[in-house]
Amino acid sequence: MEKIGSSRRQYRLALGLSAMVVVLFFVFSGFSVKTPVRRVLRSISRRELRSSTGIKLIRRQVVMDNGLVRVTFSNPGGDVIGIKYNGIDNLLAIDNEESNRGYWDVVWNKPEEKSINIDRLQGTRFQIIKEDHKQLEISFTKTWRISMNGTTVPLNVDKRYIMLANYSGFYAYATFERLDGWPAVGMDQIRIVYKLRQDKFQFMSVSDDRQRVMPTIGDREKGEKLAYPEAVLLTNPTNSELRGEVDDKYQYSSESKDNKVHGWISSDPPVGFWIITPSSEFRTAGPIKQDLTSHAGPIALSMFTSTHYAGKDLGMEFKEGEAWKKVYGPVSIYLNSVSADKDSLTLWENAKDQMQEEVGQWPYNFPQSEDFVYADKRGSIGGQLFIRDRYMHNKLIWGGFAYVGLAAPGDVGSWQKESKGYQFWTQADKRGYFSITNVLPGNYSLYAWVPGVIGDYKYNDIITIQSGSNMTLDRIVYEPPRNGPTLWEIGIPDRSAAEFYIPDPYPTLMNELYNNHPEKFRQYGLWERYADLYPNKDLTYTVGADDYRKDWFFAQVTRSAANGTYKATTWQVIFTLENEPETGNYTLRLALASATDSELQVRFNNETAKAHFTTGLIGKDNAIARHGIHGLYWLYSIDVPSSLLFKGENKIYFTQSRSINPFQGVMYDYVRLERPPQT
Ligand SMILES: *[C@@H]1O[C@H](CO)[C@@H](O)[C@H](O)[C@H]1NC(C)=O
Ligand SMILES: *[C@@H]1O[C@H](CO)[C@@H](O)[C@H](O)[C@H]1NC(C)=O
Ligand SMILES: *[C@@H]1O[C@H](CO)[C@@H](O)[C@H](O)[C@H]1NC(C)=O
Ligand SMILES: *[C@@H]1O[C@H](CO)[C@@H](O)[C@H](O)[C@H]1NC(C)=O
Ligand SMILES: *[C@@H]1O[C@H](CO)[C@@H](O)[C@H](O)[C@H]1NC(C)=O
Ligand SMILES: *[C@@H]1O[C@H](CO)[C@@H](O)[C@H](O)[C@H]1NC(C)=O
Ligand SMILES: *[C@@H]1O[C@H](CO)[C@@H](O)[C@H](O)[C@H]1NC(C)=O
Repeated sequence: MEKIGSSRRQYRLALGLSAMVVVLFFVFSGFSVKTPVRRVLRSISRRELRSSTGIKLIRRQVVMDNGLVRVTFSNPGGDVIGIKYNGIDNLLAIDNEESNRGYWDVVWNKPEEKSINIDRLQGTRFQIIKEDHKQLEISFTKTWRISMNGTTVPLNVDKRYIMLANYSGFYAYATFERLDGWPAVGMDQIRIVYKLRQDKFQFMSVSDDRQRVMPTIGDREKGEKLAYPEAVLLTNPTNSELRGEVDDKYQYSSESKDNKVHGWISSDPPVGFWIITPSSEFRTAGPIKQDLTSHAGPIALSMFTSTHYAGKDLGMEFKEGEAWKKVYGPVSIYLNSVSADKDSLTLWENAKDQMQEEVGQWPYNFPQSEDFVYADKRGSIGGQLFIRDRYMHNKLIWGGFAYVGLAAPGDVGSWQKESKGYQFWTQADKRGYFSITNVLPGNYSLYAWVPGVIGDYKYNDIITIQSGSNMTLDRIVYEPPRNGPTLWEIGIPDRSAAEFYIPDPYPTLMNELYNNHPEKFRQYGLWERYADLYPNKDLTYTVGADDYRKDWFFAQVTRSAANGTYKATTWQVIFTLENEPETGNYTLRLALASATDSELQVRFNNETAKAHFTTGLIGKDNAIARHGIHGLYWLYSIDVPSSLLFKGENKIYFTQSRSINPFQGVMYDYVRLERPPQT
């Protein structure tokens, strides 16, 4: 018997020792066993069973150990309270309460109430699911009962943890379930949180070009809070090199498609802590949904669903009686190390290799939950996407590099607000060939969009994916919105404002990481730069003379007024018609990449006339304040009777009329004026 705790009495129960050492530890209060391993296990299993019928056993911890990593869980809550690796007794924030180190949580609200609640999903029952020389899997379940109505989120949750032989880490996943007859509920966020030791983990990496030494929580607390609450100016950081920089967790967001591995590196000793997400099927809102990754704390997150960069449009709303079930994960918590004389950055390279490995293994063949579907029970679909844009090309062209996905049946583009089901996305090759594999059986709509092409595609019929089936759609054709030839256009239709003018940040409000960086838009405070660049007059853009990369500010924001109020702004697009307007309607295509509490009004050749078109109040994606270059996508097609236009100079006025604060505004994706249909 190996004693591993000093203050508590802990006894090791070694199981099925062959090539590997899989070990379970239990902590008994005032109770000890000294019998051969296997008999002890059986006796515990029996007590476990009997405990529910009255035998009292106080079991406070469960430990999994494979010789490389030892993970300690609270029991039966199922929080991760300790991770021992490479000589570090605990990688997690040992100064925090045990319940505040490694946990799942859900943000939820009763439908009639605005106030939000956070549920840490504490388990009430622990079970050993599998234990042999290759795999250990344990479960912590929380069961909802009607007597809990209103006090905890109405969900049954089965939190699972898996440890494999020789794997330097572990896996976490969970099944969430609602049954018939349960009360209505709203859920805005589901995630896993790991809080690491500040004295070890100071270097964070979320991608090849987003890695840096991070400030501490203390540095943030001592710093100066900026206009948006999460952003702090580091005025007196412990690491003086960070003085004068801005820190904001939203500066480290990623799109789902790129968010497969992120985490932290300790340099002494060199150890990496990584969250690897091998599939996005259980995430929401498609491949370009953005979310948090890792941030100062040090914290590493696995975000499964949230309203970030989307707003309440993406919150989950369940009606009374609405049944639901979904598996989140597995994600891997992967640990690595190198010897002290090696460059600790190689840990990032190794983590990326491991990520590739995990992606290659997806769907995993080892989770034991019946709700996790193995590869042989999944189906696939493939095909080739073409585009017919008759005023651009006589023939069909390839839907090259299209994003193609299956999501819950719905309207065109509905996937970007869909949060309850699974989604399966891929990117087509340059000829528009796509193949979506490992799809869970069920009914879906097939959606697509093509970078460089306006609008959204949806296949007409419901797609039913059957277990083990392989469907082919020979040739599908997307006809993007089009009424007439392009008269002019501004930007690239790609759901992002990244091609427009991104100003330099204030030198006093920089995150040095984003200096000379392709993602300059992640700097803090860029919205304020608008008034510096356009101090007296709002932006005007002359078609044919101006260049959208330099002359179209990335966001149409409000303007600060001297007395702490904000003013609406009106941008003008000026263009010339050589001849009298053609008869019929012109069409203005207005594609927005983001909107936050905004109303965009459009007027033609008369700034004071009643608006010809208004979006109405739209958007809660907050992408301006959170340094995203897009939020949700909005597409408007506006008929412009030729009577509104003239031979010679014409002006279109775009007014963002809502102006209470500095974070309101829209980002344009693309604007196009089409001539009337040609006969
Ligand atoms: C674990 O790794 C060792 C050494 O590489 C190997 O001998 C053993 O077979 C592995 N065990 C399993 C269960 O894969
Ligand atoms: C749960 O409580 C709400 C009030 O908060 C009530 O409207 C609802 O009917 C209750 N549901 C059940 C199943 O008891
Ligand atoms: C899929 O749709 C078909 C036809 O509408 C229906 O019969 C079937 O039950 C649906 N399957 C699932 C898994 O929802
Ligand atoms: C599906 O069928 C295609 C064509 O027959 C084949 O190339 C592909 O490998 C199959 N995919 C799967 C996942 O079975
Ligand atoms: C703030 O100043 C603007 C002009 O810049 C003025 O129109 C507005 O009435 C003022 N608001 C308040 C509350 O003083
Ligand atoms: C032009 O647009 C208006 C407003 O949408 C519509 O009522 C009218 O029928 C259109 N005219 C033509 C010729 O399409
Ligand atoms: C612009 O619209 C306003 C309000 O309808 C109107 O009073 C004014 O005459 C219009 N100006 C021109 C030049 O048409």
